[in-house]
Amino acid sequence: MSKTDWEQRYQTGDMPWEKGEASPGLVDFLAAHPKLPRGTVCVPGCGTGHDAREFARAGFNTFGFDIAPSAIQISKERTAAAGLKATFQLGDFLRDKPPQLFDLIFEHTLFCAIDPGERDLYVQAALRWLKPGGDYLAVNYIIPNTDGPPFGTTREELWCRFSPHFELLKEYVPRSYSNRTGLELLMWWRLKGNV
Ligand SMILES: C[S@@+](CC[C@H](N)C(=O)[O-])C[C@H]1O[C@@H](n2cnc3c(N)ncnc32)[C@H](O)[C@@H]1O
Repeated sequence: MSKTDWEQRYQTGDMPWEKGEASPGLVDFLAAHPKLPRGTVCVPGCGTGHDAREFARAGFNTFGFDIAPSAIQISKERTAAAGLKATFQLGDFLRDKPPQLFDLIFEHTLFCAIDPGERDLYVQAALRWLKPGGDYLAVNYIIPNTDGPPFGTTREELWCRFSPHFELLKEYVPRSYSNRTGLELLMWWRLKGNV
């Protein structure tokens, strides 16, 4: 089985990324920014929906997208069971036309999951799915791996890819799951006016 056959991985339970809770960095970010406008948020590669539910809990109009039907099914079931409201839809973030434009995109382990050769497509997708002046909030996985997924990246690569289009508002090493401590970098970007 290929490590990028995502549906198969959900069906066989081969999901080492699944931590049973939202990204700790996201949880802290939302707690630290209670006045952030509660607009529309897109969570691409939402998996089983932990991060999307965290946004829904915080009052955002939340949309999760994933290419694996099982991920969407689980996300819907767990969100309903939690008594929360969010929309989950099957979709390819890299290639699809967005069903609507979003105020915010939240990235967490999608950038490292795709083939590095698709990273230009990823950046173009972020530009395509955001409203003018929208925000791109990312908990990036800074690891050296070349035989992913997960595939590694560096702060330098992220700067080169995103800074031509986005202004960097904030960056720091967030709180992480125990096995990722010190290996994540939160970057909060805002789309520049001329895009
Ligand atoms: C490593 S998992 C991370 C899931 C979730 N973000 C988390 O941290 O629990 C990567 C997810 O991205 C999804 N995915 C991969 N390529 C995608 C694409 N082009 N568009 C949307 N989702 C994609 C996979 O199905 C999988 O659910």
